[in-house]
Amino acid sequence: MYYPEELVEEVRQKNDIVDVVSGYVRIKQKGANYVGLCPFHNEKTGSFSVSPSRQIFKCFGCGIGGNVFTFVMQYENYTFVEAMKMLAERAGIKLPEAEYDENAKKAMNKKARIMELNKDAANYFYFQLRAPQGEVGMKYFKNRELSDETMKKFALGYANVKSDDLVLYLKSKGYTDNEIVDSGVASFHEKYGLHDKFWNRVMFPIQDINNKVIGFGGRVIGEGEPKYLNSPETVVFDKSRNLYGMNFARTSRKGYLILCEGYMDVIAMHQAGFTEAVASLGTAFTGGQAAILRRYADQIILAYDSDGAGTKAALRAIDILRNYGMTGRILHLEPYKDPDEFIKNLGREAFEERIQNAEDSFRFELRMMEKGYDLKSPESKLKFRKALVEKMYTLSDQFEDIKPFIELVCETYHFGYDEMCSSVASYGNSSQAKMSTVRRQEETEVKRNKKKEDPVLYNQKVLLTWLVDEPFLYAKIKDYIHVDDFSDGIYRKAAERLIQALEDGEVPNPGAIMTSLQASEETNEEEQLEIASLFCTKITDKLSRMKGTTEVDLDTQAKIFDSVSDKERALSDILVTIKRATMQRVTDCANADPEAFKKIVSIKKTIEKIQKTHISLT
Ligand code: UTP
Ligand code: MN
Repeated sequence: MYYPEELVEEVRQKNDIVDVVSGYVRIKQKGANYVGLCPFHNEKTGSFSVSPSRQIFKCFGCGIGGNVFTFVMQYENYTFVEAMKMLAERAGIKLPEAEYDENAKKAMNKKARIMELNKDAANYFYFQLRAPQGEVGMKYFKNRELSDETMKKFALGYANVKSDDLVLYLKSKGYTDNEIVDSGVASFHEKYGLHDKFWNRVMFPIQDINNKVIGFGGRVIGEGEPKYLNSPETVVFDKSRNLYGMNFARTSRKGYLILCEGYMDVIAMHQAGFTEAVASLGTAFTGGQAAILRRYADQIILAYDSDGAGTKAALRAIDILRNYGMTGRILHLEPYKDPDEFIKNLGREAFEERIQNAEDSFRFELRMMEKGYDLKSPESKLKFRKALVEKMYTLSDQFEDIKPFIELVCETYHFGYDEMCSSVASYGNSSQAKMSTVRRQEETEVKRNKKKEDPVLYNQKVLLTWLVDEPFLYAKIKDYIHVDDFSDGIYRKAAERLIQALEDGEVPNPGAIMTSLQASEETNEEEQLEIASLFCTKITDKLSRMKGTTEVDLDTQAKIFDSVSDKERALSDILVTIKRATMQRVTDCANADPEAFKKIVSIKKTIEKIQKTHISLT
């Protein structure tokens, strides 16, 4: 469903960002902006700022920023369309209903086509499993003690031994070769043409929270490699933002969810009545998944495999959950390997009991840390104490009050409580701690905003924001910078629109540019979130990075960095960084571009010119 630009803009204008954010976060007016604690990462100082005049928000701690759509998408984990629906309703605006006549169907965008294709493929697998040729698959599932009802609930299927029958079926339904390849269920081979990705495997359709099939996992029957084959990421399948079983678990409302590693584990648990079970999708647990879980529960029970890899994954998951304000508990399955095997052998009551006795995550961490030390040796014990101090210092970033943690540690290992408190406090002042804080902040930033770490895109963003804030800048740089210097999807589109406006002598309207990008059919979900931050990466951010200051407050920053010469230096750095990247791109494709050499020489000259010229900002 796509909405016309005017409608998107109307919805945006009728939802004041301060009002909307206030519904979720406590914010207080400070100068021209509102500030508060960031809802997207754990912090004690308010780095989260909302600007009523620009109608955007930005967190200077974790880097997240955007407009009212982006905020709702991030907070509620909505798609753009879901955010649009919610905000329209909030403002009393009626949205057009989707029409399902032939014309509308033809106009369906690519995402919807792929969704439709996935559904057809899932149906195909479903019927194969129940047909004579699916007998091996059926036997396999029966062997694993799945009931007909369970197989139906999870829409399990079978991909038969032929390697082109699904392709033929999909073609008969009118899908193009491109659509079939883009959906990930088939690939193109020079010699054999299109051929199915899955054959002779039992199939697990992966559904999003709205029960739409977004991808597949396929397991070999018996032994073989790889054991599970999964769909690649596609326009509709983002592995870091979906969880297997979430469509059912979302309504279980037990106050906690069980997170495990495997499709079969989820299915076995649901069959035994534990409908709160979900799994990550053949990849490590991510922050995006934590954000989804947080919508439904604040406690997560980790039911990972009881081997070394499972333990490591659990420790990692605990950390991610804490960063998202959730508690993890560890479910112990010994002597069995995973929930599926446990339930098969000991039954549901025993499993329920293990849930009740799930281990507190901090106790679990302590036990695992302890393994690296010989507590009978005084020397080793001192080292252990040091590690504990660092651990508790880390926790002080994630919790308001860490006294209960210190108490537990002191009780367990017989350390003096007061000494421990002062060790943790003084660790906080040591340079070591500062280092690890910076490292952690950087890590969160990487996790939250991968693109931000790309220095070229970062500089492009700073320049775009700067041009919006101070349009006079355009006249000074137009000889050096062109639309072609902006390479990446929405950056390019935003630059096109902005530069056009500046060329026409208009006052740039970032809100309108964002809306036109948000309303565009070509914009994917990832880009939706990126869009608004295009215009809220202030030059002061760049300046503070250049100076290595960690000052996060906007007003303070503005005061410190009002120096014109610093800004001029920053401008030159931005332009050179962007131009160098352009040169690299042209060089990379030199084979395909007969003009490449000429272009490279000219870009080189421009870079030299920027470095030699003093572009004055006064
Ligand atoms: P496991 O190997 O622990 O399998 O993988 P399992 O769930 O116990 O499977 P069964 O019981 O033998 O059928 C756990 C998860 O890791 C991913 C899958 O998502 C699987 O459910 N995985 C595993 C893969 O993606 N590829 C593989 O080759 C193996
Ligand atoms: Mn298993």
